[in-house]
Amino acid sequence: MTKIKMPPSQPYQPLLLRILHGLTGIFLITAMLTAFWTYDTYDGRWGKIPLPDYKDIEGLHGTFGLYTLLIFPAFVVYAFHRGQNHLIQADSWAKLAQTNKPIWWYTLSRFANTLTLLALTAALFSGKMMDETWLPKGELGDSS
Ligand code: HEM
Repeated sequence: MTKIKMPPSQPYQPLLLRILHGLTGIFLITAMLTAFWTYDTYDGRWGKIPLPDYKDIEGLHGTFGLYTLLIFPAFVVYAFHRGQNHLIQADSWAKLAQTNKPIWWYTLSRFANTLTLLALTAALFSGKMMDETWLPKGELGDSS
């Protein structure tokens, strides 16, 4: 019987990307869940769900927000270098018009990845500008 030689399979993501991607994802999801709980406890203007009123959740959110902020720069450096192929390319707008071809899906995913990086940058920097005393003092808007 002849044995067919298969090339060794490549992992979908290299190890460093897996680690950075995984950690960013875990910290971010935890930051988002605790952010919602913070909103639910202190604000609730756009609706509430019956979560317990837990005052310390604000500090917990700050901690996971900070973890995300610390790991994110490493992930961004990786994404801009070895992961560049997964981000918007010069010809991406033209490719987005080719809806009947598989490239459309790749282009859509490149747009999604790029927009996610931009949105997270905005969330992290605006989060860093938050003052932990505002919500406990009931300051929910422009106090001027
Ligand atoms: C993707 C969503 C969010 C991200 C990535 C994020 C990220 C952050 C970061 C990085 C900090 C700074 C932590 C520090 O300096 O130690 C922070 C603080 C804070 N965030 Fe968010 N945030 C998000 C959503 C929200 C939402 C929806 C609220 C609304 C309640 C919120 C309320 C706060 C408050 C009150 C602080 C100050 C808490 C503290 O420093 O202890 N965040 N957030």
